[in-house]
Amino acid sequence: MKVIQAEKAGFCFGVKRALDMAERTVQNSATVSLGPLIHNQQVVDRMERQGVQVIHDVEEAQAGATMIVRSHGVPPEIYQTAQNKGIQVVDATCPFVQKAQRLATEASKKGQVIVVGDKHHPEVQGILGWAGGNALAIETVQEAQELPAYEHVSVLAQTTQPIANFQRIAEELKHHTPELTVFNTICNATEERQTVARELSKEVDVMVVVGGKNSANTRKLAAICAEETETHLIETAEELNENWFKGIQIAGLTAGASTPDWIIEEVKNKMTEMNEMDDNTLNMENWADS
Ligand code: F3S
Repeated sequence: MKVIQAEKAGFCFGVKRALDMAERTVQNSATVSLGPLIHNQQVVDRMERQGVQVIHDVEEAQAGATMIVRSHGVPPEIYQTAQNKGIQVVDATCPFVQKAQRLATEASKKGQVIVVGDKHHPEVQGILGWAGGNALAIETVQEAQELPAYEHVSVLAQTTQPIANFQRIAEELKHHTPELTVFNTICNATEERQTVARELSKEVDVMVVVGGKNSANTRKLAAICAEETETHLIETAEELNENWFKGIQIAGLTAGASTPDWIIEEVKNKMTEMNEMDDNTLNMENWADS
């Protein structure tokens, strides 16, 4: 069995930047992160060992502490609360998310803002916050169909949205307003990973996707691979099952944007080991047959 790793896999620019900022910050001051820095428990544990404590509400931070805002970003009131409490903020919001936030603020002055994405996801909640009260989030064409008519609509996307879904919803929104402005705020890192993963999935007998099971980005990547071939989503190498690779010629490997290289490497090594064991068994069987 041959193991092929997707060319683009693992940490995206924004996540890498956020982790680097947190690592630098914790060397100089007591550091908390507002929510886990990334959707990967192994990395969160490692950061905690380095001293970055996860909090879930800005109110939990002590005065004088330094608080990292993660790559997803937060609504503007969080910065205000932090300032009032004497908490220093290190802003690791991904610049691509910041752009979506800026556009949301501008667009809200013109009319209704619609964000295509998961309304419960912190990135979407942050963008909605920057748009003030004039914004809502939807994720399906059906939800778009149920919307009323507006004078002006600006539509933006959660950075991890599949482009096809965003386009379909933007198309539907044309029936709800005479003036539609479309801002494609989908991040290239996501698109690139999704395209490369789909192409690879077409060529392999089985795909392994590595990443946090609570990461929307990783789950989407796995769903795309599953449209093309048998796909397994795992968080660590321990979850690999050798039965997945029995009689398989080529296996593919990719990883969500919050998966560090060391975990991808571990998975690849274990897949290769399993494969060698399988080959040895086959050779023994051939030898016994002859
Ligand atoms: Fe930023 Fe794109 Fe990653 S928006 S956090 S570089 S997936």
